[in-house]
Amino acid sequence: MSEAVNGRSDFEYGKFMDAILNLTGLDLRNYKERQMRRRINGLMDLLGVESYAQYVRVLKEDPEKYDQFVKRLTINVSEFFRNPERWVDLEERFIPQLRKKQPNLKVWSAGCSNGPEPYSLAIMLADIAPQGSHRILASDVDKMVLGQAMQGEYGLQQLRYVSPERMEKYFTSLGDDRYQVKPEIKRMIQFKRQNLLTDTFEKDFDLILCRNVVIYFTEEAKHTLYQKFFQALRPGGILMVGGTEPLLKYRDYGFEAIETTFYRRPEVQ
Ligand SMILES: C[S@@+](CC[C@H](N)C(=O)[O-])C[C@H]1O[C@@H](n2cnc3c(N)ncnc32)[C@H](O)[C@@H]1O
Repeated sequence: MSEAVNGRSDFEYGKFMDAILNLTGLDLRNYKERQMRRRINGLMDLLGVESYAQYVRVLKEDPEKYDQFVKRLTINVSEFFRNPERWVDLEERFIPQLRKKQPNLKVWSAGCSNGPEPYSLAIMLADIAPQGSHRILASDVDKMVLGQAMQGEYGLQQLRYVSPERMEKYFTSLGDDRYQVKPEIKRMIQFKRQNLLTDTFEKDFDLILCRNVVIYFTEEAKHTLYQKFFQALRPGGILMVGGTEPLLKYRDYGFEAIETTFYRRPEVQ
């Protein structure tokens, strides 16, 4: 066996996972191994790094390579009002339902990437209830995307589902097809670094969005996460997931399914 293959053996990968947990707080054991190793090996090939041990040294010494690694591992593609038909459900059905009980909502965008999801929520709530004082928490494990989220600058690709009226009302043009979210929308959101797999959650949310985040999580990791989301919602609260991530065992967690991608914690258990 060549040195390169040896340096990438299962045994070496085990040690690599321990080192990465120490270094980043990310537990690779919670992610599907085949997909993760393919991504990591791809990055190592790009850098000409042969063994996992050598890669750990590179990540410790080079902040740019470290950022590249976290980014590749957590993939953070996002856009405003992603899957627009689901946002129509939210805007026309579920937000009004939630507001009947609770005019000011406590909402969480879990795995918010560089911000389109929480900003979409803020824009929607500002339109529905301009006088409201809603609280929007937006969290992600990747501090680089959180920095971009706080900046709130976007190109047209990420803004393609924003209506012209909303563009006019809630964005400032920076030229060169770049736009920035206005301060009154930014002020509605609290950004926070948080690892969904290890950190504790706040409670009493009316609505939690966790979309396109769990794609590489193992079944056990997802199971634990959905239990924690259930506990974090107040009775009657709603969880919205990504279009390709239905909760097959929603009943096991105590949820009821109310619409494609929407689950409710029942009022009475
Ligand atoms: C593809 S983006 C989804 C963004 C947005 N929710 C959407 O649907 O457009 C996935 C995000 O999940 C974050 N993520 C991955 N693992 C995470 C974890 N363990 N804790 C918190 N965020 C995580 C990534 O950093 C990334 O920004």
